[in-house]
Parts: sequence; C-alpha cells; structure tokens
Amino acid sequence: MVKIGEFKNPDIQGMSENRKKLIHTFGALAELGQEISYRQNFQETVRISLHLLLGSLAIMRGGVARFSRFGHELNMIAARGMGDDFPLALSLCSEDERQFVNAGTFPIENLDGKVLPFFQVYDHSLERSRIELVMPLVNRDEIVGSVFLGEKASGEPYTSHDKDIISAMGRHIGVAIAQRNLMAELERRVEENRRLYENLRTTYKDTVQAFAAAIDRKDKYTEGHSVRVGKYSEIIGSELGWGTDEVEGSAVAGYLHDIGKITVERKIINAPYRINAKESSELNKHPGVGYEILMPIHHPYADVPLAAKYHHERIDGRGYPDGLYDQEIPYIAKVVNLADSFDAMTTDRPYKRRRPVNDVFADLQRNAGKQFAPEIVTAFFKGMLKELSGETKERRFRKLLGREYMETEGLATTLRKTLNEMAPTSPLTYVRHG
Ligand SMILES: [Fe+2]
Repeated sequence: MVKIGEFKNPDIQGMSENRKKLIHTFGALAELGQEISYRQNFQETVRISLHLLLGSLAIMRGGVARFSRFGHELNMIAARGMGDDFPLALSLCSEDERQFVNAGTFPIENLDGKVLPFFQVYDHSLERSRIELVMPLVNRDEIVGSVFLGEKASGEPYTSHDKDIISAMGRHIGVAIAQRNLMAELERRVEENRRLYENLRTTYKDTVQAFAAAIDRKDKYTEGHSVRVGKYSEIIGSELGWGTDEVEGSAVAGYLHDIGKITVERKIINAPYRINAKESSELNKHPGVGYEILMPIHHPYADVPLAAKYHHERIDGRGYPDGLYDQEIPYIAKVVNLADSFDAMTTDRPYKRRRPVNDVFADLQRNAGKQFAPEIVTAFFKGMLKELSGETKERRFRKLLGREYMETEGLATTLRKTLNEMAPTSPLTYVRHG
C-alpha cells in the first residue's frame, strides 16, 4: 500500500517550503507592523523587518531609509552589510520624488534608474555597496522611505516573482513607517497643545494675580490681603487632599474673592474707624458685585464666581448676602471664608491690631460649626502643624505670617490640643428657623 504523500515531487516540496517560509515571514511582518507604531520599538522593528526581507529571499545586503519631508532626504534607519561608506542621508530632488511616487513601491533596478538624478548623484555609493534594487516606499501617494537591496546569494538576477514579494513586503514596511509618522505627528501636536494650554494657564494665573494686586491696592490698610487669602485657600485645598486643578482653583477663588470691592467707594474701604450702617450696607454689596464681574468670564475652575458671592456666608445662616445654611453654601466659599477670616484676624487693621496666634486658634475652634465648616478648620490646623513640627520643609505659613508670629511659644502643643478636641468628621447640620 502506498501512503499519501510518499511520492512527492521534490520541486513541489521545495516550493511549499519556500511558501511556508514566506507565509511565516508575512505573519511575522504583520505582527511587527503593530509594534512599529510605538516609538521605543520603531528602529528595532524596522531592523527586524529588513532581516526578514533579506532572509526570506536570501539577499546578501540591504537597508531601509525613512523619508524626511522637511529635509527632502532619505535617512537610513536600518542596514545590513552595506558597508560604512554608504551615506546616512540621501537627498531627493523634486523630479526624484515625482518618479518615486510613480514607481509606488515597486523595485527600480539600479540600471533602469540611471535616468533619475538620484541614481546619478549616488551612483558611486550604490555601486560600491553593490545595490541592485531601490524600492521607494509609498503610502497614499506620499514617499515614506526606501528599501535598498544588494544581490541575491545565488548570484541570480531577481525574477518578477521575487520583485512581487519584495514589493508586497515593502508595502508593509511603508505602511508601518507611515503609521509611525502619524503617531509622531500626533505626539507633536499633543505636545504643542499642552504647551499652548500651559501658556494660557500661566497667562490666566498672572492675570488673576495682577487683579488680586489691583484689588489690594485700593485698600491701603489691608495690603496684600487678596494675595494672602489666595495662598491660604490654596493651603486648605491641598490639606483637604484635592487634586492639582482644584487646589489651583481654590487659590484663584481666594485671589478674586473681593473683586467686587473695586466698585465700593475708596473712603468706605479705607475708613480708619468702624463704618456706620449705611456704609456697611454699601460695602456688603461687594460679594454680589464680584459675582456679576466674574460670572461672564470663562474660568478653568467652575466655582470661582460662587466663592466671590458667598464668601461672607456662615454655616449657621447668620452670614450675608443670602443667609445660607451649611449645605446650601458652595464648598469653595467655605474655604475662602476661613482663609479670609484668618487673614483678617492675623493682620493689623486701622482700628485694631492683629490678634495673638493662640487667641486666633481659640476663635477658629469656637466658631467651627458656627461660622466655619469644622473639617476645613481641622485641615487648616493640620497644615500649620505639619510646618511647625517640621513634617514639611515648606514655609508657607511662615512666609505669610512672619517668623516671629509662628515662633510663639507652645504653639505646636496648643495646636495639637485643639486638634484633639475637635470632631473633624461630624460637621453640624443646622435646621433653618422660620
Ligand atoms: Fe470680602
């Protein structure tokens, strides 16, 4: 009995092995195609693609170049056996580019190409490295690179079948390079956008700070108030564990909280005495005015106008302008409220001196749950304690309050004691009366 396959024609067997090898090569190329789009693997995968191409047709030497649209040149990115003399960059003139696109991933024999300026300019190099085929890599009518191939190991000329295979593999490498170019372009644009955004953000921050300085200039007794409130609000935001954007947002809210004061008469703001009821009602319009000013502006952080409008509200409902209770008050306004009050207590005013720091702590503790949200007071205290105990190297409070003030004896101990006495996780909820 004769078994199937015993009488195999050696030629057919040989062909099928070749085909198997080719199928394997194409499979490997397909996988590489996916890898190639990532920058880290790009050079390496092009090198492997070249080796697969050379190996599958037993070609002695070759190289792959990537086309640079900016320099109008081919830059070698992988080579094997081409010799050290082969140029790393080869220029293309517009005629070459036109002809390369026309050839469209089909190998040009060195001899056939002689009419092209490219082959004339690089004649010596191509001869010296014994390059027989130059295959443009074209993708969507654009040159993306080129493959250079030396002679076959057998010494036989390339058959049209060989050229078909080279052409198919070349298309594959071409697509992969085009994909990588696209990724690089995308990365470049993302980077450009990031830079533009960064610039815009810096401009916004600078503008906000300039505004804060302008507001502060109007009030000669509380110089730097808005800037300090911005910084305290920023500290509170970060102590509450907020993300970078939110922390930045709370700083902006602090910087701009009093912007409504620009419409209040200077003599009311600068009154060296306690103002009367009429003047007080004039001054109390500033949160509403601030909101009107900030509302039409597009802020990267949503709550900035709300902070201006509600930074004089108290969680017990005894604040102004709307007498809101606890949960009704936007959170950012509660943050700014504490920062604002703390700065008012710790700076000299025309009619009163700054208060001793222990006194201020006692005030904040007493008013946690009345004016302030307790967990915000706790966060604020914790931030200060971190600095006093040396847990953080930052000198945020010291810069704002002065060294002397922060070095008040027993401050850290008082702060620890106060923190222990507070119930940070249970803010009181008020029931609205009448
Ligand atoms: Fe205010």
